[in-house]
Amino acid sequence: MKPHPHPSPPLEGEGVVPRILLAPMEGLADDVMREVLTGIGGYDWCVCEFVRVSSNVLPPRVFSRTCPELLQGSRTAAGTPVRLQLMGCHPELLAATVARLIPLHPAGIDLNFGCPAPLVNFHGGGAALLDDPELLYRIAAAVRQTVPTAIPFSAKMRLGITNPARAVECALALTAGGVDELVVHGRTRDDFYRPPARYDWIARVREAVKIPVIANGEIWNVEDALRCRAETGCADIMLGRGAVADPFLARRLRNEVVPGWEEGMAPALAQFWRGVQRKVLPRHAPGRIKHWLSLMRRAWPQAETLHHQLRPLRRPEEIDVVLRSAGVLAEVA
Ligand SMILES: Cc1cc2nc3c(=O)[nH]c(=O)nc-3n(C[C@H](O)[C@H](O)[C@H](O)COP(=O)(O)O)c2cc1C
Repeated sequence: MKPHPHPSPPLEGEGVVPRILLAPMEGLADDVMREVLTGIGGYDWCVCEFVRVSSNVLPPRVFSRTCPELLQGSRTAAGTPVRLQLMGCHPELLAATVARLIPLHPAGIDLNFGCPAPLVNFHGGGAALLDDPELLYRIAAAVRQTVPTAIPFSAKMRLGITNPARAVECALALTAGGVDELVVHGRTRDDFYRPPARYDWIARVREAVKIPVIANGEIWNVEDALRCRAETGCADIMLGRGAVADPFLARRLRNEVVPGWEEGMAPALAQFWRGVQRKVLPRHAPGRIKHWLSLMRRAWPQAETLHHQLRPLRRPEEIDVVLRSAGVLAEVA
């Protein structure tokens, strides 16, 4: 595949350096994927998958299980900071949990008010809180008291539960509670992951609050990012599935000429496959690489062929054979 030179995205104003962030994605962007994507580069920071705080103050090992980067200065191997994300609905419990987390020196703390999963919402977590700005305020304020000002404190919200009518109210509540910056995923919980992302509502939130707003949702390529920045007025963006579909997207957004499949994607896939095999049971490893390839098909035609070949395979040894013949893994001498 040929390199894709692209124009620089526009900036919001003089002196603004737009940031590109890697979204938290439970089951998809774990530490192995974060290491690969941040190794390719282009990200200012990333957020790990949510840690649920439901009934007990969590012991420190729970944090490093979700975010092993905590054991290496809260950074990926490439040096990209990783913020820890918590999800829950009890202000005091969240604050007490954060108090245990602080000695581990997280690169930042993020609160999740966006998860649409029915089980999570049933327990009062994630997007279910978006009908209760007063509780959002109390959660943010309780956690704020525990987070030293030197540690960035953010929140990530959807626009609402069934409709975005209270999005601005929720954002103002989180701001009043003391979050430093706000990631807004431009969908309601009931929108789930259906396109489009409602950039007009992200813009309304951005206009209403005084802290930086980071736009998120449905950015798959450079054109999407340009439109997102133009329509939301946000310079900073967070890439979710698009970052996984095209691991070079952040660098394209930085106007870099990026390598093609053989020089860029194939080594990244090999690194991922090695990492996944180190981390998960052999029977779970094939599903991980298939999942990645199925998303990657959107941006890379080579992934379609490979995905088709790997789909029926169940054992890592079988996957190795195909990856070798595709030139992703080196042939055994
Ligand atoms: C598989 C998957 C897992 C996700 N897990 C989380 C999570 O743990 N915490 C969170 O705040 N958002 C989570 N999200 C939402 C993403 O961070 C992001 O807001 C959403 O995918 C929209 O961005 P995109 O359209 O660029 O993918 C998840 C999304 C996906 C697809």
